[in-house]
Amino acid sequence: MTATAPTLAPTPSAPIPRIPVPTWLQTIRAIADPIPYLENAYAQYGDIFEGRSFGFPPFVILSHPDAIEQVFTTDPSLFDSVSGNQIISPITGDQGLLLLEGEAHKKRRKLVMPPFHGERMRAYGDAMCAIATQVSQEWPQNQPFVMRSATQEITLRVILRTIFGIDNNERFQQLSQLLDEMLHTFDTPLGSSHLFLTGLQKDLGPWSLWGKFLRRRQAINELLLAEIQERRQQPLGQDILSLLLAAQDEQGEPMSDAELRDELMTLLFAGHETTASALAWAFYWIHKVPEVRTKLLAELRDITPDTDPSEIAKLPYLSAVCSETLRIYPLVLFTFSRTLKQPLRVMGYDLPPGAMLTPCIYLVHHREDLYPNPNAFRPERFLERQFSPYEYFPFGGSNRRCLGYAFALFEMKLVLATILRQTSLQLVSSKPIQPVRRGITFTPAGGVPMLATRLGG
Ligand code: HEM
Repeated sequence: MTATAPTLAPTPSAPIPRIPVPTWLQTIRAIADPIPYLENAYAQYGDIFEGRSFGFPPFVILSHPDAIEQVFTTDPSLFDSVSGNQIISPITGDQGLLLLEGEAHKKRRKLVMPPFHGERMRAYGDAMCAIATQVSQEWPQNQPFVMRSATQEITLRVILRTIFGIDNNERFQQLSQLLDEMLHTFDTPLGSSHLFLTGLQKDLGPWSLWGKFLRRRQAINELLLAEIQERRQQPLGQDILSLLLAAQDEQGEPMSDAELRDELMTLLFAGHETTASALAWAFYWIHKVPEVRTKLLAELRDITPDTDPSEIAKLPYLSAVCSETLRIYPLVLFTFSRTLKQPLRVMGYDLPPGAMLTPCIYLVHHREDLYPNPNAFRPERFLERQFSPYEYFPFGGSNRRCLGYAFALFEMKLVLATILRQTSLQLVSSKPIQPVRRGITFTPAGGVPMLATRLGG
């Protein structure tokens, strides 16, 4: 995005600028080609404008750091932060963290947070490196392979290990395959439109798109329920399923099978899709921009198999590469919408209850005033200055900030360092790769075909 947006001159009672395009056309563009749609609207209307989509109240799309700060620092109880997430309920059910509100949300977050942060998270470092090594050793030598599939295998095994304590028996192999197939449903704009347009969610038999999705979801449910039932009979371990099984409500009641299933699906889904795409993008950019690869390999030269994973995670250039990867194409274009329960004044506009405040990560990350030449991949930006949590927020903010942000960054850094030390990679094609929708996330089109050669030693 290179156009300079008009400066906003707030007029207290002026209506918010509206995209003057019929709702049906906005819906199609937002599903099929959202980035040019957002860039055009930003160039015309600036930091705050209203977009429409079938089945939702009007979205107030925000791309000024002051507005983001207001959303992230306003008392969260003034917002409903889940109604905009309903589109995800066919995948996760509605009793997992993404769809809980208020006290229930707070309690669940507190319960599942520890393994994704601090010491508990760092304990997964060795497993992350070992899984990256195992998966990359299976890559064909000098034969094209799709990096997005490989990173998905890594991140799925890592999250299975974190949630269940193991990742490689027959049940988990079936689970991995079914999850992959189920999420493929949303690889195309047509597939993704089934999440956005609930009228399309009809079971027209086992060969129809939604019919296949439902049958795979059912098979996944059965595998998860079988695991839950077995684990109810066993001593508890250190993994997340054990934490959930040990949890009780005020009346001393444990979580039901349905609640457990929804939380497991939420963490499985949120915990691997995004990181898999982030890693595929990172491999793409590192090999697309030769100076980045040279600088990164120089930094990684001092690492040995004995280097503590926590030390790897502190490397400044590696960290900057990960930050820039999540800036240039954030994995989700927006944070969750926050729907107003009470009127609120934002950027000089009086917004009524029901307005869906929607911070746009992509537009903020492409502001010329914050990120000069925003379409260039330049990790140095993150070494030259610090950005506030309202200028850079790939993981959202406030009480809904991504539960797995520290885990995802740790995993990205360890997987990149492990693989780049052991394998020489190159892109199959020099053509630029664009983001495409995969459900609610944005992934590199074609998955980044690459060639690998194992390095000796
Ligand atoms: C690069 C990888 C990832 C990115 C870019 C990402 C991004 C995000 C974003 C933007 C949100 C919404 C935050 C908001 O609206 O303020 C979110 C929420 C969430 N993410 Fe992530 N995420 C990533 C990895 C993970 C991982 C590894 C997990 C592991 C469990 C995870 C679990 C969640 C959960 C459970 C929520 C909902 C939090 C809540 O509602 O309290 N994410 N993520």
